Amino acid sequence: MQIAIDGPAGSGKSTIAKLVAHKLGYIYCDTGAMYRTVTVMALRLGIDLGDEAAIMDQLKQLDIRFVPSADGQKVLMNGTDVTLAIRQPETTNNVSQVSALPKVREDLVQRQRDIAAQNDIVMDGRDIGTTVLPNAEVKVFMIASVEARAIRRHKENVEKGIMTPIAKLEEEIAERDRKDSTRAVSPLRKAEDAVEIDSTKMTIDEEVAEIIALVPKHSA
Ligand code: CDP
Ligand code: CDP
Repeated sequence: MQIAIDGPAGSGKSTIAKLVAHKLGYIYCDTGAMYRTVTVMALRLGIDLGDEAAIMDQLKQLDIRFVPSADGQKVLMNGTDVTLAIRQPETTNNVSQVSALPKVREDLVQRQRDIAAQNDIVMDGRDIGTTVLPNAEVKVFMIASVEARAIRRHKENVEKGIMTPIAKLEEEIAERDRKDSTRAVSPLRKAEDAVEIDSTKMTIDEEVAEIIALVPKHSA
């Protein structure tokens, strides 16, 4: 069983995907965390983010691993814990440049398909329903207003001690949406057979219930 959840930044994908996976006993795969990890790698090595060949040289040997932990999932990059680093503003503001590189996408899409081939899975990202798992049994495209998404991100950031103002977050989110939706390879778009869910005014529980109702054996 494959459940694909796509949508723009801050629409609630990872929160909902994690809960749906937990309820159904499936694996959860956060593909955004993989693009973020490659971004951290390039920034730490001082590689120009447009230098696809140099990034690919390093990515070929990069081990990206999700490890269950008490407070969710840890992300390990060649054994180093990058769970916090991948959420820092510097990573967030550079990830769309790295994720637009065709060879980086090819490499990570293959890794994502390999994970999905071995498990019942909930996978979230931008191109899961369109490219990574085009035959997923359930496809969801999650949206929410830019204002709602910036307020949510602000709340999360404050808990982590990141104090970016809401207006700035709105700008950053709109800019990332623009870049992710207009890139040449696998742009963010709703798959034709995806169900659109607008989470602007929905609670997390309502969204989880709506998605579980789409899963064939749970919909009765
Ligand atoms: O959590 P948030 O929505 O802010 O972002 P994310 O899901 O962690 O994804 C970070 C970035 O990775 C996105 O802005 C995209 O540029 C890229 N991404 C992608 O291109 N394709 C995916 N399947 C997942 C993420
Ligand atoms: O993965 P993505 O960037 O799409 O979003 P997220 O990180 O899962 O969600 C961003 C924030 O929105 C989280 O703090 C969620 O708790 C919150 N959220 C919410 O308040 N109401 C919803 N219906 C969905 C998410």
